Amino acid sequence: MELKGNTILITGGTSGFGFQFASRLIELGNTVIITGRNLEKLEQTKNHLPLINIFQSDVSDPKNIELLFKKVVAQFPALNILINNAGEMRKINLHEQRTLDDITREIEINLMGPIRMVQQFLPHLKSSGQAAILNVTSGIALAPLPLSPVYGASKAGLRSYTQSLRIQLKDTKVKVFELVAPGASTPLNDKFLEVDGFDPKILMSPEKLIEQAIRGIEKDYYEIYPGLAGILRVMSRIAPKFLLMQMGKVGAKMMSGR
Ligand SMILES: NC(=O)c1ccc[n+]([C@@H]2O[C@H](COP(=O)([O-])OP(=O)(O)OC[C@H]3O[C@@H](n4cnc5c(N)ncnc54)[C@H](OP(=O)(O)O)[C@@H]3O)[C@@H](O)[C@H]2O)c1
Repeated sequence: MELKGNTILITGGTSGFGFQFASRLIELGNTVIITGRNLEKLEQTKNHLPLINIFQSDVSDPKNIELLFKKVVAQFPALNILINNAGEMRKINLHEQRTLDDITREIEINLMGPIRMVQQFLPHLKSSGQAAILNVTSGIALAPLPLSPVYGASKAGLRSYTQSLRIQLKDTKVKVFELVAPGASTPLNDKFLEVDGFDPKILMSPEKLIEQAIRGIEKDYYEIYPGLAGILRVMSRIAPKFLLMQMGKVGAKMMSGR
């Protein structure tokens, strides 16, 4: 798919992958719209990238999504690409008490968010000529990281949904991409830096990762596995138990329940 002259909505564009996607896609000659919850961060992003368009919107709130759709489509009727990028990842020790509302946060943001965004924007995308949806999943969709059990469930769910969506849309002009991202140096990982067994050296630079994602989209690779995600893909097929055991070493002390 040609990444020039499109109108692209990116959820969660104020840092990490979303910000990197936004800057590169603007450089390539696209109109870019980003969302986020924090207005101050959105305004700071606009200062860095004056050509960007910002909307405050929480992807875990269906009313926010309905309102976002009305505003974006009224102002940018040429919208033809949706990038479901917004996401959160927490360390969760399942031995500890948490409220039932709190425990499912990542499901609401990382899984229900993209499903609702697609549901809301799909009729518009289908009427846009050449269109695309890209869902950002994770290497953790291929092999769980036990320290982040709800996150892993959200990304495995999003991967499954994305595969079904691609089949259901195969006779339309909407292409469905999945970016299976490996660990990268973004603010999302700051809270893991001090965790026992976590090696920050494995983190990929977001610049390199998004460059590979853009090349993948341009070549119509519907599943994109940058850096270590390619290795996780192979390992999850040939040695899934070994891989799970290795992943379980991250934060082992914290999860022991002692
Ligand atoms: N970094 C990694 O190692 C890695 C690896 C694999 C996959 N991923 C996935 O890549 C995506 C981007 O992650 P990142 O590393 O770039 O994280 P990040 O730097 O923390 O950025 C997350 C972005 O999402 C926004 N966001 C969070 N919750 C939101 C919500 N409910 N509604 C709207 N926007 C929201 C944040 O802004 P506000 O807080 O202001 O809302 C921010 O702009 C996520 O889906 C993540 O799971 C990351």
